[in-house]
Amino acid sequence: MRALFLLTWLLMASLADAQSLREAFQPFFRVGAAVPSTEGLPEDETALLTRHFVSVTPENLMKPEALQPREGTFRFEAADAFLDRAKQLGLEVHGHTLVWHAQCPEWFFRDGASPASRELVLERMRKHITTVAGRYRGRIARWDVVNEAISDGPEFLRPSKWFEATGEDFLVEAFKSAHAADPQARLFYNDYQIESGAKRGKTLRLLRLLSDRGAPVHGVGIQGHWSIDEVPFDDIERAIIAFHAEGLRVAVTELDIDVVPRRVAGADISVRDRATEDPYAKGCPDEVLQRQAEQYARLFTLFRKHADKLDLVTFWGLHDGRSWLNGWPRQRTNYPLLWDRELKPKPALDAVLRAALE
Ligand code: XIL
Repeated sequence: MRALFLLTWLLMASLADAQSLREAFQPFFRVGAAVPSTEGLPEDETALLTRHFVSVTPENLMKPEALQPREGTFRFEAADAFLDRAKQLGLEVHGHTLVWHAQCPEWFFRDGASPASRELVLERMRKHITTVAGRYRGRIARWDVVNEAISDGPEFLRPSKWFEATGEDFLVEAFKSAHAADPQARLFYNDYQIESGAKRGKTLRLLRLLSDRGAPVHGVGIQGHWSIDEVPFDDIERAIIAFHAEGLRVAVTELDIDVVPRRVAGADISVRDRATEDPYAKGCPDEVLQRQAEQYARLFTLFRKHADKLDLVTFWGLHDGRSWLNGWPRQRTNYPLLWDRELKPKPALDAVLRAALE
């Protein structure tokens, strides 16, 4: 019994050493990670990134506020450096994101003291997309063309400034402009919680609307910001099947499993949690890490089952110390990813690797 236990333990302990995520999932789908930069990343993190991942997403530096903070003033230095270094490292880049209501400067929507007209807003959006996607033509595998346009409320589309100015037209035009600027890039609609409840139906409605209006959409990104013990496995499966049945590819674009209780659901970055608790400031209980590992394994088993529909699974961060969930929706010490703050593999890494080998 003891020997068997030891053997199992040894086998498990060695899995993380022997296997990389990219190799383990190579027959199924690409595995990616979001990072703040590629050229500014410390050496040990770069080693982790290239060993385990095929794809990399810039966490912030291709968002509208980063690329065009003022009208006509494009800042490409950081994004250029990101792409150059990614290429050197042999990583493919997932572009994030051309059109979003958050991290988007106000000037897009103003005309002096008044709100900008529909035409002006669309013209600015087209120019932004044409300039950005055109500059990186042929170098971006996939673009998140529009992020989070579906409403969490009773209405269909989010009442964002984009929507207020143009109705649903900005979505149609965004995909058309992106395709014209970079015909090779696969174009995705990306959003959170679209696997569940009313948002799944609204996503299908949006995809059909886009297709009816001739918008070149190739895929749907399910962000995948889930919480421990609340991962909606059945909904995820139904959503993958339903989106694929629309003739689209599916990606999981921002995967993490939050382990610290919070009152805010979803992933709306403008929503804050007033609580101040930081229950795992001194470390995460083993039992929680084990539960997280089991849930990650279940997820990857599910992803494997639907590998024919999935292009990519990207984690939103490289290791626990780099996760946005340490700061959103409040300051917390979080443990959502596969490596800890010292870059040591967590039980979740073994569990995910095992899901590939089963
Ligand atoms: C987050 C970044 O990780 C943070 O660094 C930034 O402060 C806010 O945005 N959904 C998205 C991502 O589509 O762009 C968000 O990224 C996380 C939620």
